[in-house]
Amino acid sequence: MAEIVFDRVTKRYDDGQLAVNALELTIADGEFLVLVGPSGCGKSTALRMIAGLEEISDGELLIDGVIANDLAPRDRNIAMVFQSYALYPHLTVAENIAFGLKVRGTDKAEIDRKVAETAQLLELGDYLARKPGKLSGGQRQRVAMGRALVRSPKAYLMDEPLSNLDARLRGQMRAEIARLQKMTGVTTIYVTHDQVEAMTMGDRVAVMNKGVLQQLAEPRKLYDAPANLFVAGFIGSPPMNMLAGQIGTSGGSPALLLGELTIPLDAPALAARPALTDHQGKPVIAGIRPEAFQVAPDEPSAPGRICGTVAFVEDLGASLLVHVDLDAGAVVASGIEDESGDEMTSARTRLRAVLDGTLGIKGGARIGLTVEPARIHVFDAATELAITH
Ligand SMILES: Nc1ncnc2c1ncn2[C@@H]1O[C@H](COP(=O)(O)OP(=O)(O)OP(=O)(O)O)[C@@H](O)[C@H]1O
Ligand SMILES: [Mg+2]
Repeated sequence: MAEIVFDRVTKRYDDGQLAVNALELTIADGEFLVLVGPSGCGKSTALRMIAGLEEISDGELLIDGVIANDLAPRDRNIAMVFQSYALYPHLTVAENIAFGLKVRGTDKAEIDRKVAETAQLLELGDYLARKPGKLSGGQRQRVAMGRALVRSPKAYLMDEPLSNLDARLRGQMRAEIARLQKMTGVTTIYVTHDQVEAMTMGDRVAVMNKGVLQQLAEPRKLYDAPANLFVAGFIGSPPMNMLAGQIGTSGGSPALLLGELTIPLDAPALAARPALTDHQGKPVIAGIRPEAFQVAPDEPSAPGRICGTVAFVEDLGASLLVHVDLDAGAVVASGIEDESGDEMTSARTRLRAVLDGTLGIKGGARIGLTVEPARIHVFDAATELAITH
């Protein structure tokens, strides 16, 4: 087991590509850390540096307090499950899983026991005698997992290990990996694109963008209090609605002025964030999670009421994902794209609301929405940082 520390670690590839930029991150002994971020943000590079497969350009990597920058991969005792799993094609599933143990000279009975145990866990019992060429993609991925799980390493590094599995197996493995990790207490760093994996598996989640760590927090904190616009837009599915505007006044009281839309900031919203008052007149971006909306009671002119027409509805069973074209012209903040891939800056503003599945809302209907002002995230448009106090 190990504590892993990135002390301002930078990776610049030979062609000049800055993949990881001054990463400061401490992964506690026994922790399950999830690393998320868009494609190309440096997740795999960060993992590969821990494994010793990528040279560190600058800064120090410490494993259990020892500088590991120049330690050979085999001397690190770290097991990695790669994004593209490489199995030995001429060995059977059982031999592939046993390979690492055999090399270390583990005795045969012990190997057999561990292989059987791992195969059972990964539902590979029926395939032990097969060669990888005769397995499905998901089965191959499980063999690759098995090779890592069978060892007793200081740390597990997992790079999208479930990406080729179907939804059922994925859900099952997600729970199994989390359970196994808690049981063994082996430090684990897990890379994923998957929101659900990030939110459910990690003790903490590190969000990266363009090689830079954006926020490191417990999943709930990341969701409830994203530190900046990037994290707010990246975490959560469907994504947060973002509207550009400023903080001004309406009827003498502070309000969010978002294009033609005015949302009064009530006492609870201001009490939690007095700094909002200091931002009067400055450009801000308001972020509203789709599930923060409620269908408004039937009073057409209530303050803060968001009125529009339902463009279309995605029925998700338990809930409805309702796409609403607002009556008021407001500007959807850049970075959020509509279905056609165009940035929406037109007068027609579309918001997404997640509403109760039993409401029976249909396309073309008129709808009024409200949102508790305290649940609106407000970001300084210049710094892109959340206004949190
Ligand atoms: N060997 C390499 N040489 C040069 N640039 C590289 C190399 N490997 C990766 N990169 C670049 O470094 C950046 C980070 O890549 P990395 O593979 O770490 O991203 P990632 O977050 O794992 O992405 P994905 O989610 O697509 O797997 C990317 O811009 C990528 O193009
Ligand atoms: Mg990757």
